[in-house]
Amino acid sequence: PGAAEVLVASNRGPVSYAVGDDGTVTAKRGGGGLVSALSSVDDKLWVCAALGDGDREAVRRGITEPGVRMLDIDPEVHASAYNGIANSVLWFVHHMLYQTPLEPSFGPEFRRQWAAYEEYNRAFAQALADGAAPGATVVVQDYHLALVPGMLRALRPDLRIGHFSHTPWAPVDYFRMLPDDIAEQLLRGMLGADRLGFLTRRWADAFTECCARIVGGPGDTEIGVHGLGADAEFLRERAHREDVEERLAALREQVGAGRKVVVRVDRTELSKNIVRGLRAFELLLETRPEWRERVVHLAFAYPSRQDLEVYQEYTAEVSWVAASINSRFGTEDWTPVVLHVKDDFARSLAAYRLADVALVNPIRDGMNLVAKEVPIVSDGGGCVLVLSREAGAYEELGEDALGVNPYDLIGTAEALGAALDMPEKERVARGERLAAAGSSLPPAQWFLAQLKALHKP
Ligand code: G6P
Repeated sequence: PGAAEVLVASNRGPVSYAVGDDGTVTAKRGGGGLVSALSSVDDKLWVCAALGDGDREAVRRGITEPGVRMLDIDPEVHASAYNGIANSVLWFVHHMLYQTPLEPSFGPEFRRQWAAYEEYNRAFAQALADGAAPGATVVVQDYHLALVPGMLRALRPDLRIGHFSHTPWAPVDYFRMLPDDIAEQLLRGMLGADRLGFLTRRWADAFTECCARIVGGPGDTEIGVHGLGADAEFLRERAHREDVEERLAALREQVGAGRKVVVRVDRTELSKNIVRGLRAFELLLETRPEWRERVVHLAFAYPSRQDLEVYQEYTAEVSWVAASINSRFGTEDWTPVVLHVKDDFARSLAAYRLADVALVNPIRDGMNLVAKEVPIVSDGGGCVLVLSREAGAYEELGEDALGVNPYDLIGTAEALGAALDMPEKERVARGERLAAAGSSLPPAQWFLAQLKALHKP
């Protein structure tokens, strides 16, 4: 056995590496909830996959971060597991993204990819088994690693094993689109854990229903709900550093004095529903002409999963729609939609500070932290949140947000109009409540609560 008392496993790790022109390897530390959740945990080991060439080169040269073990999985195996199964099948199932006539066909290619998914999961289970101290606690993250709990239990029955899903869970009739044996294997793999965590009651219930219908129930595995909140203290401090101030000044210039600002920040991700969001903004300009020249939509859509063709196409469509709105309504000194596609955390925070309205309209989303972050960071006493009722965050923020059906363009355009019209007193009152609700259960607490629950007698 190894020496770590707490282990975490996730496809994407807390650090990535790049090889410079001169051949030197440099590390870039990631942000995100999990990184801040684990910062206060001692004696930990984070097992993750090498994702790009830089990561592989770092592993080969023996460059490591303390407490991190990066697995150099065969690139083809990783691509099949990550792009093929995790992101093209499991992500699509849980976000219900398959649409006629593009429903999946599970044939021989799928089976080959599935074998790679198993191999990739086995590599994680083995690395965890090697690194864990006797009786250690392991928390496995997300749909990439659904088989790990069962595999790890077989290797190391002494461990306490948890698994946490950051996505929604599909309703049983949709989940059963998967071949029967695969659906069963996924559920049994996860049920190898002592405890499974979900972001909301809704996703936990959907999982339980799948277990009831497909494998006769969850057995001894406990199922818990742990909402994840934003790290308000960190965000407020980070949002006032110099790099953010600089970008804030540039964005103010771009927006123009006296105009309201509608902000969205997402990965260019199908489930985020960016195109319908842009169309709803267009409809607002069409039906409420008094807002022309008086509002700017800052839409930040950062590249994601570009190995997948549908994501490339989606990214192009987002750019095309934004440009078409600008050519239809734009004037000499007013650009209605400012689209940025290059990932820049400091600029996102600057946009949060400027926001009068935040638009978060996913088709389906495990939680959505942007919905929690914008009200915390925005200047001027808080912004109005237009929030899809299909986001996990809606269960916590629904009362103070303006809820929308993400498919309903007219409803979304009306909600944007109502958000822009909202009297300041109401906006501030709601904004304060949103910021407070979004700050409860910050990442460190979220993680410790899971550790504690795993060790209940
Ligand atoms: C979601 C998933 C995460 C994933 C992230 C970014 O939030 O739940 O597991 O890391 O998207 O996606 P990517 O494929 O770039 O890691």
